[in-house]
Amino acid sequence: MTEAGAGSPPFRVVAFEVDDAASLDAHLAIRNEVTPDNPDSPDSVRWETETYPGQVHRFLAVDGSGTPVGTATAGRIWMHEASYERYWLGIWVLPAARRSGIGQALYEAVSHAGREHGKTGFQTELSEAHADGHAFLAHRGFVEVERTKLVRLELAGLRPPVPALPDGLVLTSLEARPDLVPSVHRVAVEAFPDIPTGDEPVAALSLEEFRARDVDRADVPPGAFALALDAATDEVAGYANLRFAPGSTTLAWHDMTAVRPAFRGRGLALALKQATIAWAVANGVEALETGNDEHNAPMRAVNARLGYRPIPDSVGLHGPLAGSGILRP
Ligand SMILES: CC(C)(COP(=O)(O)OP(=O)(O)OC[C@H]1O[C@@H](n2cnc3c(N)ncnc32)[C@H](O)[C@@H]1OP(=O)(O)O)[C@@H](O)C(=O)NCCC(=O)NCCS
Repeated sequence: MTEAGAGSPPFRVVAFEVDDAASLDAHLAIRNEVTPDNPDSPDSVRWETETYPGQVHRFLAVDGSGTPVGTATAGRIWMHEASYERYWLGIWVLPAARRSGIGQALYEAVSHAGREHGKTGFQTELSEAHADGHAFLAHRGFVEVERTKLVRLELAGLRPPVPALPDGLVLTSLEARPDLVPSVHRVAVEAFPDIPTGDEPVAALSLEEFRARDVDRADVPPGAFALALDAATDEVAGYANLRFAPGSTTLAWHDMTAVRPAFRGRGLALALKQATIAWAVANGVEALETGNDEHNAPMRAVNARLGYRPIPDSVGLHGPLAGSGILRP
């Protein structure tokens, strides 16, 4: 627990677990008010807790009248092994409660949790639209390591695209062929190392972990998990899938588009993405969003060709744990 210094409004920081429903509600309400562009939902927290038990630390900052005004989380980065040196970081403080030391107190709380679990730093991602957050992070030694160009496609009135695959490849979905998950995993193992990132490559991990993280999720509709199948071998050559934004049935994200190296340059990514757009149009989705590292020219060209329009960039940052002796600029 942290108490505010003399002269500051009183507040305290407390850890909470997800089975504390009131605290979880308060956490989600603050997060979703502060960063509506990066929401979370009870369902996705439940998924996270079941899939990665004990691997996320959560805190609330409560003011003198007992009202929650800030929240923070830190924990495992799903795209890396559990032994990865950094924790993922999120800190949110309601605008009216800012500039009174609450963000700093939450940062110290998650840093303590990180240090206790052997972590050496944080990784996070924040829309360039959040000026307060970028100033806060920059003043604490965080540096930009990656810039993701985000784009959005409005689906209202859009005629569903008709995907066309080259000869020898057929379009199907995980809904039609649930038996193909191991083959999809083999695509991910081959393709993920080629995804540009500001850090070490993202990892497909084991088939079991891949299934839990990328496939068997309530917000990943199997009908929108498009597969390009090599008819000669019954092996998946590439896939593209959607994931609903937490708590939404009308906004979905392109979760992944991946093509095996041997099948690249033949229009598979475009056709697979078109298949997911067609599914979205047919299933009441109103908008699709996706993001790519600024250096991912092939995927960004596909998105531009499909009519996606830029929204504010998402900035990936690395930074230290509080108290690491990093000098303020
Ligand atoms: C980033 C964020 C969490 C900071 O919350 P906060 O409660 O305002 O944080 P603090 O009050 O501890 O620090 C903010 C600034 O106010 C200053 N401050 C602290 N107490 C103060 C006081 N009593 N009077 C005036 N300034 C004060 C701090 O020194 C700090 O300035 P600095 O960065 O130059 O050190 C908040 O702006 C936010 O929720 N932003 C949106 C979400 C986000 O961007 N999160 C970060 C990414 S994970």
